[in-house]
Amino acid sequence: MIDSEALIARAEGLVRSARSLDALHEAQVELLGKRSDLAAARSALGKLDPSERPAAGQKLHEVREQIEGLLARRRSELEEELRASRLQADRLDLTEVPVKASRGRLHLVQRTRDELEDVFVGMGFVVAEGPEVETDWYNFEALNMPPAHPARGMWDTLYLDIGDPETVLLRTHTSPVQIRLMQGQGPPIYAVMPGRCYRRDTPDARHIPIFHQIEGLVVDRGISFADLAGTIETFTTAYFGPDIHSRLRPSYFPFTEPSAEFEATCTICKGKGCRTCSHTGWVELGGCGMVDPEVFAAVGVDSEEWTGFAFGFGIDRLAQMRHVIPDMRILLENDVRFLRQI
Ligand code: FA5
Repeated sequence: MIDSEALIARAEGLVRSARSLDALHEAQVELLGKRSDLAAARSALGKLDPSERPAAGQKLHEVREQIEGLLARRRSELEEELRASRLQADRLDLTEVPVKASRGRLHLVQRTRDELEDVFVGMGFVVAEGPEVETDWYNFEALNMPPAHPARGMWDTLYLDIGDPETVLLRTHTSPVQIRLMQGQGPPIYAVMPGRCYRRDTPDARHIPIFHQIEGLVVDRGISFADLAGTIETFTTAYFGPDIHSRLRPSYFPFTEPSAEFEATCTICKGKGCRTCSHTGWVELGGCGMVDPEVFAAVGVDSEEWTGFAFGFGIDRLAQMRHVIPDMRILLENDVRFLRQI
């Protein structure tokens, strides 16, 4: 028969010296597994005299229970140690907040948009917004560009795979918000509409595929081209200061008649000519003109009674000019060396 006291003493030693759950598992295999002394004693029971077997079997059972008890206690100790060490590793020391935490700030384009809104609100305009995903009708048709109108080619459009082909798109300009505004409320209207626009434009010093415009719309009785020119002049000096000049050049937009392009002196070369202004000394900031009667007809405004003007400027372009940024692409790159400077 086995020496149960010696076996338990060995078990205590093995269990105590197990420093991990893996080591404890090895000890368990050694003490209770198929090749253990206990297993050997169990198979030897058959060789005993039948009268001795019950007592010997009972003894083996008690020894096994004691060893299992030792193993279970050590297992829970080791598990507790493991939990404590994991907690320690995950601990966050909130008593040591870094003293020089740097503060973030709004992106230059957002700041420019906020400033522009302030300038126009100061001039008596309200601010309105519209969706970036538009239908063909709002982006083109209501703006006097029926399907297949050649002027649609002025905007390289990104279409979405929704509904019938080429019916849903990412707006190419903020002009569709004019339509939504006129549908939603009748004249008089004095509003600006800032927002993000998308075009399949190849990025270069003055173009990025995701950019921002601010649209303006004034509809009232007796509004003339002189009001448009005066508004643009007031805005230019309020935003750039009195040294920057602006000029209107005849242009074409299907939704305004007459139409003009609004340009400002290139702030990078001060009008001498450089890469950013394609060596002209002027940078185009936006388009403008008198609202075409066809547009009024699309939204049910009586063009005999009401007249109006509209304009649309590039916000990124304005920020680029005011902060003398030679290449607009840097506005999208999130390079912290640039973001920290401005
Ligand atoms: C328009 O988008 C007209 N909707 C503007 C308008 C509104 C005319 C109301 C008349 C009445 P245009 O495509 O020229 O026009 O764009 C206007 C301005 O948006 C440009 O002068 C430029 O400042 C800016 N812009 C256009 N494309 C980009 C681009 N890819 N990246 C950055 N700015 C751009």
